[in-house]
Amino acid sequence: MSTKKSMTLIDNRSGKSYEYPILDGTRGPSVVDLRTFFKDTGMFTFDPGYTSTASSQSEVTFIDGGRGELRYRGIAIEDLAKNHSYLESCYLLLHGELPSKDQLMDFDLELRHRAFIPEGLRHLFSAFPDYAHPMSTLSASATALSSFYSEHLNAHNDEEYFEMAHRILAKIPTLAALAYRQSKGIPFIPPNIDLSFTENFLTMMRAYPGGKMKLGRNGHEEITPLEIRALDTIFTLHADHEQNASTTVVRGVASTGAHPYVAISSGIAALWGRAHGGANESVIQQLTMIGSVDRVDEYIARAKDPGDSFRLMGFGHRVYKNFDPRATILKELQDQLKEELDLDSNLMRIAQRIEEIALSDDYFISRHLYPNIDFYSGIILTALKIPREMFTPIFVIGRTIGWITQWIEFKKDPTSKIARPRQLYRGK
Ligand code: CMC
Repeated sequence: MSTKKSMTLIDNRSGKSYEYPILDGTRGPSVVDLRTFFKDTGMFTFDPGYTSTASSQSEVTFIDGGRGELRYRGIAIEDLAKNHSYLESCYLLLHGELPSKDQLMDFDLELRHRAFIPEGLRHLFSAFPDYAHPMSTLSASATALSSFYSEHLNAHNDEEYFEMAHRILAKIPTLAALAYRQSKGIPFIPPNIDLSFTENFLTMMRAYPGGKMKLGRNGHEEITPLEIRALDTIFTLHADHEQNASTTVVRGVASTGAHPYVAISSGIAALWGRAHGGANESVIQQLTMIGSVDRVDEYIARAKDPGDSFRLMGFGHRVYKNFDPRATILKELQDQLKEELDLDSNLMRIAQRIEEIALSDDYFISRHLYPNIDFYSGIILTALKIPREMFTPIFVIGRTIGWITQWIEFKKDPTSKIARPRQLYRGK
């Protein structure tokens, strides 16, 4: 076997051969460096949906889809989800290392101080109709935020990058809660500096004016430590996922030189679709539509029918082909919550039946279709009494750190170029 690190491609029409270097990563498959392919051959490569294309080099997140492995900066997701908070994972993704106790405290305090949004921005929300989906308001408000902080367009050193990143990370939960309250026509609850990141978000979404929870005969309801831990874990599991569709959009917008918050807004728009982050909302819509365990077979048959566009939401993944490690963690969490929370038993029964059939049916096995993160997160968020239209905004809150970290990485990478794919023209 040759030790030469290259690949030779032969054009069988002419017999001409071309040699391309093979580049190794620290983990995962190597790549063939085809950057000069067009110049050399006058041809393009064709790879719709980038199924075989590495669109960038990165040091942030690693996935081994065959082994069901996910790591942020080299640390396994199981370790992060079980032993660390969401804010620790944010710090890790952004700064490359887990924080010390003092670093974590400073980071937490800075985010609490930056959670407020400019007063003027609130007016934007009133321009939206009642019942506007919070994802549309959230995407618009992230774009609007760029005009309040136009200086971030020219960020060029770590201090400026981190300030820009901390600011959007802190404000996204406030914007998401405001988007929700606007859609319900109820008054805005500002962030409370005394509360942690996750408790603050739950409070802004749920509290009554004055910041208290619902009153009952025995005093006011509290947000429980269990709810905070469950949501914090969901944020951690969503924090980054290497070059997924929305991150690719964020990097694409970064490549044109647009403001980072506009790139985040584009990421929010891309995430909304049901093939991506919108799947968590669609899972519950689908379970509700199925309605009872006796109807599961009918919908499984539809999902398997090549003539029917119906798909089982929360199943399948481009990269994971054995299991989604995030789904495994959430399934464990779901089982714990079953004991402690009032999980909707009818939805749970339907979900369990779908899971049983799909895991033993040849259609799903042969196509490597397993429950993904959205299958379980939809069920857990329902148990946490999170309104359905907030499921995808919750994905946004978790993912903002990944998007902004990848935006910064793109900016600092000397090999970055404007995203400008080619096409195979088949028109007139
Ligand atoms: N239900 C039924 N059949 C499916 C499903 C599904 N959920 N997903 C894929 N298939 C079939 C598909 O019809 C195709 O069959 P065939 O080979 O006979 O044509 C085969 O499996 C391969 O599908 P694909 O569309 O080529 O796979 P992909 O890698 O392009 O798509 C996916 C991945 C996630 C978009 C897709 O599995 C899907 O639409 N799933 C449902 C939506 C969902 O749960 N999305 C959340 C993904 S995880 C969260 C995130 O990171 O965004």
